[in-house]
Amino acid sequence: MENKTGQTVLITGASSGIGYELARCFARDHYAIIMVAHYANKLRAAAEQLQQEFQHVNIHHIAADLSKDNAPEKVFAEVQRQGWQVDVLVNNAGFGEYGPFSESNLPKELAMIHLNVIALVHLTKLFLPEMLRRNSGKILQVGSVASFMPAPLQSVYGATKAFILSFSEALQEELKDTGVTVTVLCPPATDTNFFRVAGAENSKIAQGNLASAEEVAASGYETLMKGEARAVPTFKAKAEVAASNILPDSVMATAMHKQSEEVKPKRASRAKKETATNGASTPATETPTTPNATIPAIGTATRKKSNSQSTQTEPGTTETTAKASSRKKKA
Ligand SMILES: NC(=O)c1ccc[n+]([C@@H]2O[C@H](COP(=O)([O-])OP(=O)(O)OC[C@H]3O[C@@H](n4cnc5c(N)ncnc54)[C@H](OP(=O)(O)O)[C@@H]3O)[C@@H](O)[C@H]2O)c1
Repeated sequence: MENKTGQTVLITGASSGIGYELARCFARDHYAIIMVAHYANKLRAAAEQLQQEFQHVNIHHIAADLSKDNAPEKVFAEVQRQGWQVDVLVNNAGFGEYGPFSESNLPKELAMIHLNVIALVHLTKLFLPEMLRRNSGKILQVGSVASFMPAPLQSVYGATKAFILSFSEALQEELKDTGVTVTVLCPPATDTNFFRVAGAENSKIAQGNLASAEEVAASGYETLMKGEARAVPTFKAKAEVAASNILPDSVMATAMHKQSEEVKPKRASRAKKETATNGASTPATETPTTPNATIPAIGTATRKKSNSQSTQTEPGTTETTAKASSRKKKA
């Protein structure tokens, strides 16, 4: 298969939602794609679906639980072993946990910090030096509108996203005289598996107007390609970010708290939440029981036709199934 751009992108969290839609953007422009996510069956199904839509594109996939310490090293080692050159790194994998901090799920929050923060830093650390050696490369870090304000009822999640913005903006300054650019994508509430994984389906924010994963990805992709610093998709999100620049954090926190409250009575939704305790990064020894693991949704544009996708049964062992037979430098 040809790789017209000669360029390769590695996308974490590419098996559904925004990550999958980002993969479609790259595929349209003929990038070779390395898709990374936790659950191997879901990832394989997503890779096959993408391959069906873009038959001319080289698509590879590596299953890894990036909330585990050594997972970024394993992904990097696999990329090295295959001889692939990563020209674009997209750190998109992430999840949240909903509820008052005094009641929320600590193991899930610690795994979240590991995925949203530590894996993102670790992968950036591993892939940046080669980009600098070539004086060429692009990095997309997926933050959130929550990067700009406190997020009551998703307090840990909001803090991880604030970290991503701060880290990325510091890198932008450090790298400004190089050929490597860093872009932060700050999605607003978006129609993906995110709210189900976080246990926040009943929050006002999840039941309000959601952006589509497709429009969010398109905005991130366009901004990344221009080498610009920040993508804030949708007018509403831009207004929220603008408000956060003017209003005190305490006012933003109160507004966010209201938006995040549950629509349904607490008891009913809490009981429901307890049946879906852990999210995408349930400790890898457990069989995933979350909606994220059982709901077939991959991306906005593909959701309608994904009903046949299988239920996930296995957590991530690191594996690669290279669709293409080519084992060349440019994947
Ligand atoms: N949707 C929103 O409202 C929203 C708003 C702002 C920012 N974001 C950010 O957008 C990014 C993408 O989320 P999404 O909305 O597209 O949700 P999503 O549909 O649930 O996608 C999350 C992706 O991350 C992967 N992932 C989760 N845990 C992982 C782990 N431990 N190791 C490796 N991969 C893992 C998932 O793969 P598995 O299913 O295999 O675990 C999936 O591919 C996240 O960083 C999220 O914080 C989302």
